[in-house]
Amino acid sequence: KAKKIKIRTVQNNLETRVAVQGWIHRLRLQKGVAFITLRDGTGYIQAVLSGDLAKARTTQELTIESTVVIKGVISKLPEGKSAPGGVELKADYYEVVGLAPSGDEAFTNKVQENADPSLLLDQRHLALRGEALSSVMKVRAALLRAIRRFFQEEGLLEVTPPCMVQTQVEGGSTLFKMDYYGEEAYLTQSSQLYLETCLPALGDVYCVQESFRAEKSHTRRHLSEYTHIESELAFIEFDDLLSHLERLITTTVGYVLEDPEAGPLIQQLNPGFVAPKMPFKRMEYIHALDWLNEHGIPNEDGEKFKFGDDIAEAAERKMTDTIGVPILLIRFPVEIKSFYMQKCKDDPRVTESVDVLMPNVGEITGGSMRTYDYDELLASIKRENLDLDSYYWFTDQRKYGTCPHGGYGLGTERILAWLCDRFTVRDCSLYPRFTGRCKP
Ligand code: 4AD
Ligand code: MG
Repeated sequence: KAKKIKIRTVQNNLETRVAVQGWIHRLRLQKGVAFITLRDGTGYIQAVLSGDLAKARTTQELTIESTVVIKGVISKLPEGKSAPGGVELKADYYEVVGLAPSGDEAFTNKVQENADPSLLLDQRHLALRGEALSSVMKVRAALLRAIRRFFQEEGLLEVTPPCMVQTQVEGGSTLFKMDYYGEEAYLTQSSQLYLETCLPALGDVYCVQESFRAEKSHTRRHLSEYTHIESELAFIEFDDLLSHLERLITTTVGYVLEDPEAGPLIQQLNPGFVAPKMPFKRMEYIHALDWLNEHGIPNEDGEKFKFGDDIAEAAERKMTDTIGVPILLIRFPVEIKSFYMQKCKDDPRVTESVDVLMPNVGEITGGSMRTYDYDELLASIKRENLDLDSYYWFTDQRKYGTCPHGGYGLGTERILAWLCDRFTVRDCSLYPRFTGRCKP
């Protein structure tokens, strides 16, 4: 006689007797009435227990995070009264499924809002139940959905490259080494090289894959494991890559904002968020140096920036925050970029490379055109002192029908930190991994 429902469907079940199963998110006991905010992962609903239902029960039977089944009729609340969805469940029956502890062991003692972040990370499995964290995870799911929809519409095919590899992509210093049946192997830093090999077989491709970086420094935006969205496009030019990136970001953000669940969550987490519009501001590395020097922002050595300097995180973010709009930072010098990057035809000191910078985060995407000439690529690999033999499968792509091509990698947690206005990417990963943290 009671229809089992999920909370997200309450609006379709008004004036119906329903059974809702969930966790007690909030609890207010007041003169013979218990107000429960019930959560089932799909939403929140206020349930009201009154009369005998509230009387017979003690607070020990109703605790935060206990699971309960509540049956009753859902009705719209009159103007002036507020509750999630503007509705209320008038309970006529309830039952405790799993009683959560009270006292010292109570949920609210384990997950205290202002607790030391590392204590909260020990309790991540419980902290995930909080409103902000679970909202970010919902936006994350919507973002991945949107990204896949965009790629589908653009005709890219999804592939799943391996995570256990024997080649590096982004430098030896951040490699996680592992023992692979007695051979040395690594956890992948980027699936780029594998995506490149797919072009002749499958056309334009993308993947959504974990990447691993042994980043020793603690920063707001570095994880040891992150979800890397990468794509590779054949027969394109640098300008095509830049406009593809603009389309990718504006379209997917548009899809997420249109999403009936994720859109309102972004407005809650990041009030006043304005979706970026095409075209993005384009800035050459060399002009970024001028900008930094004019604004008195020093390089890593505390000096004026000069050609060849890396623009480290702090400087990059200061610049992006001040400018306040997305920036396509392009044409980085050869020496500060990876071995595979194509040199610019008009200036071989710089590469056809791009970082997408967003306010509050800085770099969310790194991409480039790839060196597609066989001999030139071999020379770059040798210059980096990489073991040429282990790259035979990558260089073969230049031997058996090469073409101009390019791609990029997008850090899922970084784009989320920007979208949801989170201080750190750690708040955008289910179970963040960074130096000293590999549990739970
Ligand atoms: O700039 P990166 O290192 O570029 C590459 O890996 C290329 N091979 C990608 C490609 O062209 N297919 O990484 C790409 C993006 C960065 O812009 C950043 O958003 C994210 O990956 N990223 C990290 N996110 C979290 N924690 C880390 N340690 C990250 N390192 C990179
Ligand atoms: Mg980068």
